[in-house]
Amino acid sequence: MIIETYDLTRKYGKLVAVNKVNLTIEDGEVFGLLGPNGAGKTTLISMLCTILKPTSGTAKVNGYDIVKQQPQVRKSIGIVFQDPSLDDRLTGRENLEMHSALYGVPKNERKKRIDSVLELVGLTDKQDIIVRNYSGGMKRRLEIARGLIHYPKVLFLDEPTLGLDPQTREHIWAYIKNLSEKENITIVLTTHYMDEADILCDRVAIIDYGEIKVLGTPEALKGKLEGEVLILDTNDGEKLKKKIETLSFIKKIDVRGNELRVAVKGSEKYLPKIIDVAKQCNVSIESISIRKPTLSDVFLHYTGREIREEMGNVKEIMKAHARRWVR
Ligand SMILES: Nc1ncnc2c1ncn2[C@@H]1O[C@H](COP(=O)(O)OP(=O)(O)OP(=O)(O)O)[C@@H](O)[C@H]1O
Ligand SMILES: [Mg+2]
Repeated sequence: MIIETYDLTRKYGKLVAVNKVNLTIEDGEVFGLLGPNGAGKTTLISMLCTILKPTSGTAKVNGYDIVKQQPQVRKSIGIVFQDPSLDDRLTGRENLEMHSALYGVPKNERKKRIDSVLELVGLTDKQDIIVRNYSGGMKRRLEIARGLIHYPKVLFLDEPTLGLDPQTREHIWAYIKNLSEKENITIVLTTHYMDEADILCDRVAIIDYGEIKVLGTPEALKGKLEGEVLILDTNDGEKLKKKIETLSFIKKIDVRGNELRVAVKGSEKYLPKIIDVAKQCNVSIESISIRKPTLSDVFLHYTGREIREEMGNVKEIMKAHARRWVR
Protein backbone atom coordinates (compact mmCIF):
# COMPACT_ATOMS: atom_id res chain seq x y z
CA MET A 1 0.00 0.00 0.00
CA ILE A 2 1.39 3.39 -0.92
CA ILE A 3 -1.23 5.33 1.08
CA GLU A 4 -3.07 4.31 4.22
CA THR A 5 -5.28 6.60 6.28
CA TYR A 6 -6.38 5.98 9.85
CA ASP A 7 -9.52 7.82 11.01
CA LEU A 8 -8.20 10.87 9.20
CA THR A 9 -10.24 13.88 10.32
CA ARG A 10 -10.18 17.63 9.75
CA LYS A 11 -12.51 20.11 11.35
CA TYR A 12 -12.94 23.82 10.70
CA GLY A 13 -14.64 25.02 13.87
CA LYS A 14 -17.83 23.00 14.04
CA LEU A 15 -17.69 21.92 10.42
CA VAL A 16 -16.26 18.43 9.92
CA ALA A 17 -14.69 18.73 6.46
CA VAL A 18 -13.16 15.23 6.53
CA ASN A 19 -14.68 12.71 8.90
CA LYS A 20 -12.73 9.62 10.06
CA VAL A 21 -11.60 8.51 6.64
CA ASN A 22 -10.00 5.09 6.42
CA LEU A 23 -8.73 4.10 3.02
CA THR A 24 -5.85 2.33 1.37
CA ILE A 25 -4.42 3.08 -2.04
CA GLU A 26 -2.27 0.54 -3.84
CA ASP A 27 1.07 1.25 -5.43
CA GLY A 28 0.63 2.05 -9.11
CA GLU A 29 -3.09 2.63 -9.20
CA VAL A 30 -5.03 5.64 -10.47
CA PHE A 31 -7.34 6.43 -7.58
CA GLY A 32 -10.20 8.92 -7.79
CA LEU A 33 -11.93 10.91 -5.07
CA LEU A 34 -15.28 11.78 -6.56
CA GLY A 35 -17.62 14.22 -4.85
CA PRO A 36 -19.51 17.51 -5.20
CA ASN A 37 -18.29 21.00 -4.22
CA GLY A 38 -17.43 21.13 -0.56
CA ALA A 39 -17.31 17.33 -0.14
CA GLY A 40 -13.84 17.50 1.43
CA LYS A 41 -11.68 16.36 -1.49
CA THR A 42 -9.14 19.19 -1.37
CA THR A 43 -9.02 19.03 2.43
CA LEU A 44 -8.31 15.31 2.31
CA ILE A 45 -5.47 15.52 -0.19
CA SER A 46 -4.06 18.65 1.47
CA MET A 47 -3.58 16.56 4.60
CA LEU A 48 -1.97 13.74 2.62
CA CYS A 49 0.40 16.32 1.10
CA THR A 50 1.23 17.72 4.59
CA ILE A 51 -0.10 21.17 3.66
CA LEU A 52 -2.80 20.87 6.29
CA LYS A 53 -2.60 19.18 9.70
CA PRO A 54 -5.26 16.66 10.63
CA THR A 55 -7.43 17.50 13.64
CA SER A 56 -7.22 13.82 14.57
CA GLY A 57 -6.16 10.56 12.98
CA THR A 58 -3.23 10.26 10.61
CA ALA A 59 -2.03 8.65 7.39
CA LYS A 60 1.03 7.13 5.82
CA VAL A 61 2.26 8.09 2.39
CA ASN A 62 5.01 5.94 0.91
CA GLY A 63 5.50 4.50 4.41
CA TYR A 64 5.98 7.90 6.09
CA ASP A 65 3.66 9.45 8.66
CA ILE A 66 2.06 12.69 7.42
CA VAL A 67 2.30 14.30 10.87
CA LYS A 68 5.67 13.08 12.11
CA GLN A 69 7.66 12.71 8.90
CA GLN A 70 6.63 15.65 6.76
CA PRO A 71 9.90 16.15 4.83
CA GLN A 72 9.99 12.50 3.76
CA VAL A 73 6.35 12.66 2.68
CA ARG A 74 7.01 15.82 0.66
CA LYS A 75 9.90 14.19 -1.17
CA SER A 76 7.64 11.28 -2.10
CA ILE A 77 4.89 13.34 -3.69
CA GLY A 78 4.12 15.72 -6.52
CA ILE A 79 1.07 17.94 -6.48
CA VAL A 80 -1.01 19.82 -9.01
CA PHE A 81 -3.18 22.25 -7.08
CA GLN A 82 -6.81 23.05 -7.81
CA ASP A 83 -5.80 26.68 -8.37
CA PRO A 84 -2.97 27.35 -10.83
CA SER A 85 0.45 28.08 -9.40
CA LEU A 86 2.80 28.55 -12.33
CA ASP A 87 4.98 31.60 -12.77
CA ASP A 88 3.47 33.02 -15.92
CA ARG A 89 6.36 35.42 -16.56
CA LEU A 90 8.73 32.51 -17.14
CA THR A 91 8.81 30.10 -20.04
CA GLY A 92 7.60 26.54 -19.63
CA ARG A 93 11.15 25.25 -19.41
CA GLU A 94 12.18 27.92 -16.91
CA ASN A 95 9.30 26.93 -14.63
CA LEU A 96 10.56 23.36 -14.71
CA GLU A 97 14.18 24.43 -14.13
CA MET A 98 13.18 26.44 -11.08
CA HIS A 99 11.15 23.58 -9.67
CA SER A 100 13.85 20.97 -10.23
CA ALA A 101 16.36 23.21 -8.40
CA LEU A 102 13.90 23.72 -5.53
CA TYR A 103 13.37 20.00 -5.24
CA GLY A 104 17.06 19.18 -5.39
CA VAL A 105 17.11 17.20 -8.62
CA PRO A 106 20.86 16.67 -9.19
CA LYS A 107 22.26 19.21 -11.69
CA ASN A 108 23.61 16.61 -14.10
CA GLU A 109 20.16 14.95 -14.31
CA ARG A 110 18.04 18.10 -14.70
CA LYS A 111 18.26 18.56 -18.45
CA LYS A 112 17.38 14.97 -19.21
CA ARG A 113 14.53 14.93 -16.72
CA ILE A 114 13.04 18.19 -17.99
CA ASP A 115 13.23 16.92 -21.58
CA SER A 116 11.52 13.73 -20.55
CA VAL A 117 8.62 15.30 -18.62
CA LEU A 118 8.07 17.87 -21.39
CA GLU A 119 7.81 15.04 -23.86
CA LEU A 120 5.44 13.13 -21.60
CA VAL A 121 2.92 16.00 -21.61
CA GLY A 122 3.51 16.96 -25.25
CA LEU A 123 5.04 20.39 -24.63
CA THR A 124 8.52 19.91 -26.12
CA ASP A 125 7.88 22.36 -28.97
CA LYS A 126 6.26 24.96 -26.64
CA GLN A 127 8.90 24.92 -23.91
CA ASP A 128 10.39 28.33 -24.75
CA ILE A 129 7.10 30.23 -24.82
CA ILE A 130 6.23 32.48 -21.87
CA VAL A 131 3.56 30.71 -19.81
CA ARG A 132 1.27 33.75 -19.94
CA ASN A 133 0.80 32.91 -23.60
CA TYR A 134 -0.07 29.25 -23.01
CA SER A 135 -3.65 28.01 -23.44
CA GLY A 136 -5.49 26.70 -20.38
CA GLY A 137 -4.84 23.09 -21.36
CA MET A 138 -1.12 23.74 -21.94
CA LYS A 139 -0.81 25.35 -18.50
CA ARG A 140 -2.45 22.33 -16.92
CA ARG A 141 -0.08 19.96 -18.74
CA LEU A 142 2.91 22.02 -17.64
CA GLU A 143 1.71 21.81 -14.04
CA ILE A 144 1.50 18.03 -14.37
CA ALA A 145 5.05 17.96 -15.80
CA ARG A 146 6.23 20.12 -12.92
CA GLY A 147 4.65 17.79 -10.38
CA LEU A 148 6.64 14.91 -11.86
CA ILE A 149 10.07 16.45 -12.09
CA HIS A 150 11.52 15.03 -8.86
CA TYR A 151 10.46 11.41 -9.55
CA PRO A 152 7.66 11.35 -6.96
CA LYS A 153 6.08 8.05 -5.94
CA VAL A 154 2.62 9.64 -5.78
CA LEU A 155 1.19 12.43 -7.90
CA PHE A 156 -1.85 14.28 -6.51
CA LEU A 157 -4.04 16.02 -9.06
CA ASP A 158 -6.74 18.25 -7.58
CA GLU A 159 -9.46 18.72 -10.20
CA PRO A 160 -7.09 18.30 -13.15
CA THR A 161 -9.59 19.38 -15.80
CA LEU A 162 -11.75 21.97 -14.02
CA GLY A 163 -12.72 24.76 -16.35
CA LEU A 164 -11.34 23.15 -19.50
CA ASP A 165 -13.38 22.55 -22.63
CA PRO A 166 -14.42 18.94 -23.42
CA GLN A 167 -11.77 18.42 -26.08
CA THR A 168 -8.93 19.69 -23.88
CA ARG A 169 -10.20 17.54 -21.01
CA GLU A 170 -9.90 14.48 -23.21
CA HIS A 171 -6.34 15.46 -24.10
CA ILE A 172 -5.44 15.76 -20.41
CA TRP A 173 -6.98 12.34 -19.78
CA ALA A 174 -4.78 10.87 -22.48
CA TYR A 175 -1.67 12.42 -20.88
CA ILE A 176 -2.65 11.13 -17.45
CA LYS A 177 -3.20 7.63 -18.83
CA ASN A 178 0.11 7.75 -20.66
CA LEU A 179 1.84 8.90 -17.52
CA SER A 180 0.36 6.13 -15.39
CA GLU A 181 1.59 3.59 -17.94
CA LYS A 182 5.08 5.02 -18.48
CA GLU A 183 6.15 6.26 -15.04
CA ASN A 184 6.25 4.05 -12.00
CA ILE A 185 3.80 6.22 -10.14
CA THR A 186 0.53 6.22 -8.18
CA ILE A 187 -1.96 8.90 -9.17
CA VAL A 188 -4.58 10.26 -6.77
CA LEU A 189 -7.00 12.65 -8.40
CA THR A 190 -10.07 14.50 -7.22
CA THR A 191 -12.93 15.33 -9.49
CA HIS A 192 -16.60 16.11 -9.56
CA TYR A 193 -16.86 14.91 -13.16
CA MET A 194 -18.40 11.42 -13.28
CA ASP A 195 -17.04 10.66 -16.74
CA GLU A 196 -13.52 11.60 -15.69
CA ALA A 197 -13.60 9.22 -12.72
CA ASP A 198 -15.09 6.49 -14.87
CA ILE A 199 -12.56 6.76 -17.69
CA LEU A 200 -9.38 7.38 -15.72
CA CYS A 201 -9.59 5.60 -12.41
CA ASP A 202 -8.80 2.02 -11.44
CA ARG A 203 -10.79 2.62 -8.25
CA VAL A 204 -13.06 5.42 -7.12
CA ALA A 205 -14.17 6.56 -3.67
CA ILE A 206 -17.37 8.56 -3.57
CA ILE A 207 -17.01 11.24 -0.92
CA ASP A 208 -19.80 13.39 0.46
CA TYR A 209 -19.87 15.61 3.57
CA GLY A 210 -16.36 14.44 4.42
CA GLU A 211 -17.19 10.74 4.43
CA ILE A 212 -16.40 7.93 2.03
CA LYS A 213 -19.78 6.59 1.03
CA VAL A 214 -18.62 3.75 -1.19
CA LEU A 215 -15.40 2.61 -2.82
CA GLY A 216 -14.57 0.25 -5.67
CA THR A 217 -13.74 -0.05 -9.34
CA PRO A 218 -16.10 1.97 -11.55
CA GLU A 219 -17.39 -1.32 -12.98
CA ALA A 220 -18.07 -2.80 -9.54
CA LEU A 221 -19.81 0.38 -8.36
CA LYS A 222 -22.06 0.47 -11.39
CA GLY A 223 -22.62 -3.29 -11.06
CA LYS A 224 -24.02 -2.77 -7.55
CA LEU A 225 -27.01 -1.10 -9.12
CA GLU A 226 -28.41 -4.12 -10.89
CA GLY A 227 -30.69 -3.70 -13.86
CA GLU A 228 -31.33 -0.66 -15.99
CA VAL A 229 -32.46 2.92 -15.71
CA LEU A 230 -35.60 3.93 -17.62
CA ILE A 231 -35.93 7.61 -18.39
CA LEU A 232 -39.51 8.63 -19.11
CA ASP A 233 -40.39 12.05 -20.38
CA THR A 234 -44.02 12.65 -19.37
CA ASN A 235 -46.52 15.46 -19.11
CA ASP A 236 -46.96 14.88 -15.34
CA GLY A 237 -43.97 13.30 -13.60
CA GLU A 238 -45.31 13.58 -10.04
CA LYS A 239 -48.63 11.97 -10.88
CA LEU A 240 -47.04 8.98 -12.60
CA LYS A 241 -44.51 8.61 -9.81
CA LYS A 242 -47.29 8.34 -7.22
CA LYS A 243 -49.04 5.67 -9.28
CA ILE A 244 -46.03 3.45 -9.88
CA GLU A 245 -43.78 3.91 -6.86
CA THR A 246 -45.51 1.17 -4.89
CA LEU A 247 -45.16 -1.45 -7.64
CA SER A 248 -42.90 -4.23 -6.40
CA PHE A 249 -40.56 -4.33 -9.39
CA ILE A 250 -39.54 -0.66 -9.07
CA LYS A 251 -36.16 -0.52 -7.31
CA LYS A 252 -35.81 3.24 -7.20
CA ILE A 253 -37.62 6.20 -8.66
CA ASP A 254 -36.69 9.87 -8.98
CA VAL A 255 -38.59 12.72 -10.50
CA ARG A 256 -37.13 15.90 -11.98
CA GLY A 257 -39.89 18.07 -13.30
CA ASN A 258 -41.70 15.87 -15.76
CA GLU A 259 -38.82 13.45 -16.21
CA LEU A 260 -38.96 10.19 -14.30
CA ARG A 261 -35.94 8.00 -13.70
CA VAL A 262 -36.92 4.50 -12.81
CA ALA A 263 -34.49 1.75 -11.83
CA VAL A 264 -35.77 -1.72 -12.70
CA LYS A 265 -34.31 -5.13 -13.36
CA GLY A 266 -35.88 -6.54 -16.52
CA SER A 267 -37.05 -3.45 -18.38
CA GLU A 268 -38.43 -5.46 -21.33
CA LYS A 269 -40.87 -7.13 -18.96
CA TYR A 270 -41.81 -4.14 -16.82
CA LEU A 271 -41.84 -1.19 -19.21
CA PRO A 272 -45.19 -2.25 -20.76
CA LYS A 273 -46.68 -2.35 -17.23
CA ILE A 274 -45.54 1.20 -16.56
CA ILE A 275 -47.02 2.31 -19.89
CA ASP A 276 -50.34 0.67 -18.93
CA VAL A 277 -50.44 2.52 -15.61
CA ALA A 278 -49.66 5.80 -17.38
CA LYS A 279 -52.59 5.21 -19.78
CA GLN A 280 -54.93 4.41 -16.92
CA CYS A 281 -54.16 7.65 -15.12
CA ASN A 282 -54.07 9.78 -18.29
CA VAL A 283 -50.39 10.63 -18.16
CA SER A 284 -48.83 10.73 -21.60
CA ILE A 285 -45.28 9.51 -22.10
CA GLU A 286 -43.50 11.56 -24.73
CA SER A 287 -40.25 9.63 -24.91
CA ILE A 288 -38.57 6.65 -23.31
CA SER A 289 -34.90 5.74 -23.11
CA ILE A 290 -33.16 2.85 -21.42
CA ARG A 291 -29.55 2.84 -20.28
CA LYS A 292 -27.14 0.98 -18.04
CA PRO A 293 -26.38 2.64 -14.69
CA THR A 294 -23.61 5.27 -14.72
CA LEU A 295 -21.45 6.57 -11.87
CA SER A 296 -23.97 9.39 -11.69
CA ASP A 297 -26.64 6.87 -10.69
CA VAL A 298 -24.22 5.35 -8.18
CA PHE A 299 -23.69 8.79 -6.64
CA LEU A 300 -27.46 9.39 -6.48
CA HIS A 301 -27.98 5.97 -4.93
CA TYR A 302 -25.48 6.46 -2.12
CA THR A 303 -26.05 10.11 -1.36
CA GLY A 304 -29.69 10.61 -2.28
CA ARG A 305 -28.71 13.61 -4.40
CA GLU A 306 -27.42 14.35 -7.83
CA ILE A 307 -23.91 15.72 -8.05
CA ARG A 308 -25.26 18.48 -10.32
CA GLU A 309 -27.41 19.95 -7.55
CA GLU A 310 -24.30 20.51 -5.50
CA MET A 311 -22.42 22.19 -8.29
CA GLY A 312 -23.40 25.56 -6.96
CA ASN A 313 -24.80 28.39 -9.00
CA VAL A 314 -23.41 29.79 -12.18
CA LYS A 315 -21.79 32.67 -10.31
CA GLU A 316 -19.78 30.27 -8.18
CA ILE A 317 -18.59 28.31 -11.20
CA MET A 318 -17.62 31.50 -13.00
CA LYS A 319 -15.69 32.61 -9.92
CA ALA A 320 -13.80 29.31 -9.82
CA HIS A 321 -12.89 29.68 -13.49
CA ALA A 322 -11.86 33.28 -13.06
CA ARG A 323 -9.62 32.38 -10.12
CA ARG A 324 -7.98 29.71 -12.18
CA TRP A 325 -7.29 31.50 -15.41
CA VAL A 326 -7.00 35.16 -14.55
CA ARG A 327 -4.25 34.72 -12.00
N1 LIG B 1 -9.85 27.22 5.44
C1 LIG B 1 -11.13 26.86 5.65
N2 LIG B 1 -11.84 27.41 6.64
C2 LIG B 1 -13.13 27.03 6.87
N3 LIG B 1 -13.78 26.10 6.16
C3 LIG B 1 -13.13 25.53 5.14
C4 LIG B 1 -11.77 25.87 4.82
N4 LIG B 1 -11.37 25.13 3.76
C5 LIG B 1 -12.43 24.35 3.42
N5 LIG B 1 -13.48 24.59 4.25
C6 LIG B 1 -14.78 23.91 4.19
O1 LIG B 1 -14.58 22.52 4.26
C7 LIG B 1 -15.47 21.83 3.40
C8 LIG B 1 -14.66 20.99 2.43
O2 LIG B 1 -13.98 21.84 1.53
P1 LIG B 1 -13.02 21.31 0.37
O3 LIG B 1 -12.35 22.48 -0.25
O4 LIG B 1 -12.17 20.22 0.92
O5 LIG B 1 -14.08 20.67 -0.61
P2 LIG B 1 -13.86 20.09 -2.10
O6 LIG B 1 -14.50 18.75 -2.11
O7 LIG B 1 -12.44 20.20 -2.49
O8 LIG B 1 -14.76 21.07 -2.95
P3 LIG B 1 -14.53 21.67 -4.47
O9 LIG B 1 -15.12 20.63 -5.39
O10 LIG B 1 -15.37 22.90 -4.46
O11 LIG B 1 -13.08 21.93 -4.67
C9 LIG B 1 -16.33 22.89 2.74
O12 LIG B 1 -17.53 22.97 3.44
C10 LIG B 1 -15.51 24.16 2.88
O13 LIG B 1 -16.33 25.28 2.94
MG1 LIG C 1 -11.45 21.17 -4.00
